[in-house]
Amino acid sequence: MSYATIAGDRIRYEVHGDGTPVVFLHGFPLSGRLWRHCIEPLRKRRRLIIPDVRGLGESAGHAFATMSRYADDVADLLNALGETEPVVVVGLSMGGYIAFEFMRRHADRVRGLVLADTRANADPPQKAEERRQQAARVMAEGTRVVVDAMMPALFGPAASESLKEEWRGIMNASPPEGVAAALKAMADRPDSTPTLATIRVPTLVIVGDQDTLTPPEVSRAMHQALPDSTLIIVPGSGHMLPVEKPQEFNHHLAAFLDRLRQSD
Ligand code: MLT
Repeated sequence: MSYATIAGDRIRYEVHGDGTPVVFLHGFPLSGRLWRHCIEPLRKRRRLIIPDVRGLGESAGHAFATMSRYADDVADLLNALGETEPVVVVGLSMGGYIAFEFMRRHADRVRGLVLADTRANADPPQKAEERRQQAARVMAEGTRVVVDAMMPALFGPAASESLKEEWRGIMNASPPEGVAAALKAMADRPDSTPTLATIRVPTLVIVGDQDTLTPPEVSRAMHQALPDSTLIIVPGSGHMLPVEKPQEFNHHLAAFLDRLRQSD
């Protein structure tokens, strides 16, 4: 496990393997452990860069959490690692929101994009207000408030109790300050729908068929708006696709990365 100092804060990250750089951005309120099943199958020909997003997991820095700071953290981490090649950005859910911001701010650093279980639209006003109220409750009562609210919708019906309990523990370990800051960053994020048509790099849109948080029809709409995209709907998975159906997720991700190599 390694740490980089980014904008004055200690950001945790892992790097595995060598080759095409691939950056993995986890969802809310998760951590880089979301990608743990990707490491062994993908590390042979790729350099996998896996941060904990600012304020979540073991990364500090909640005070400056905004979608644009999250995106600039990725660019700063790449700089700190001496990574000058364009990267493939893989974002799940909130990681996808960060990926859209990264596309707007650092498009020249991206050679491919993976949008997993995410959405392009901003929060409707009522949802944004609920997030702000939830952020206040998290600060008063702890991270548990948001974890308890999310748990019933995070996993598909086939997920084991032990997987769910493991993730309950991982999520509860994120500090309330970082969780509340991420809620506000999501509430304030811009609509990325107009960004879709501007994304010129090959994009994989992938989603579990039982994802109720970012359902397949949302992915289908993104796919239709993207100039160069492939849509995969994985049977039998909810929102936590990389841990619910790791083999299927890795298979489709590896196939996409291979196609990108061939087009070089
Ligand atoms: C996530 O998994 O990152 C969240 O479900 C995103 C959200 O709440 O919009």
